[in-house]
Amino acid sequence: MHIDDTIRSRKSVRAFRPDPVPRDLMEEILELASRAPSGTNIQPWKVHVVAGEMRDRLVAEVMAHRENDPQDAKAEFPRTSKRKEPYTGRLRTLGKEMYGLLGIPKGDKAANWRQWGRNYEFFDAPVGLIFTIDKDLDAMSFIDIGIFMQTLMLAAKARGLDTCSQGAWNNFWSVTRRVLDVPDDEYIIAGMSLGYADETQPVNTLVAEREPLDSFATFHGFD
Ligand SMILES: Cc1cc2nc3c(=O)[nH]c(=O)nc-3n(C[C@H](O)[C@H](O)[C@H](O)COP(=O)(O)O)c2cc1C
Repeated sequence: MHIDDTIRSRKSVRAFRPDPVPRDLMEEILELASRAPSGTNIQPWKVHVVAGEMRDRLVAEVMAHRENDPQDAKAEFPRTSKRKEPYTGRLRTLGKEMYGLLGIPKGDKAANWRQWGRNYEFFDAPVGLIFTIDKDLDAMSFIDIGIFMQTLMLAAKARGLDTCSQGAWNNFWSVTRRVLDVPDDEYIIAGMSLGYADETQPVNTLVAEREPLDSFATFHGFD
């Protein structure tokens, strides 16, 4: 696949087929992703790759904890859910389109709760990835991990695999820490679902819109 086609065809998939992904394919994708750049080449990314029984155990424990203690849906590091325009408009557009495809009416809190919970089932993907970062690193290293994640997603896409990045996994981090034995000096910053898209699911037809170039780029010094 041409790199442009890989970039354009990657999109967040939120319904996967159960078909397993072999370990050697995961190793190939992760090794390629490690070609991602990082400030001063510190390569701060760390990732737990879960499949099979371990994936099922992580899902079961987080889902059970979420039912018992829904208020624990918070990250271990500073985050805010407060947004201003133009961001609120964009996230509402995404939500409207996604929940429309899922057939979830606005205001249906129970259905919303169930759908948000699909994050913690990795949307049925056979592979879950949990990204962690040393607590004493700063914002620059969060950038590095974002680049690593995108490189990973493109490497996966080029091999017929789909993904969904998931900030959702920084919630309920105490359970993930315990199940995966994540050291106390690391934050759990994100997760990712990875596998083969279930093309029969309407939610996977979602193509999230993008703002035009002139809304985010300011050119200086061109003719
Ligand atoms: C850092 C990050 C966190 C995200 N967290 C979630 C999440 O928790 N759940 C989810 O369904 N999608 C999540 N997404 C996917 C975004 O909603 C998606 O990337 C965005 O709507 C653009 O759509 P696209 O990826 O299909 O191009 C996340 C994406 C990123 C980059």
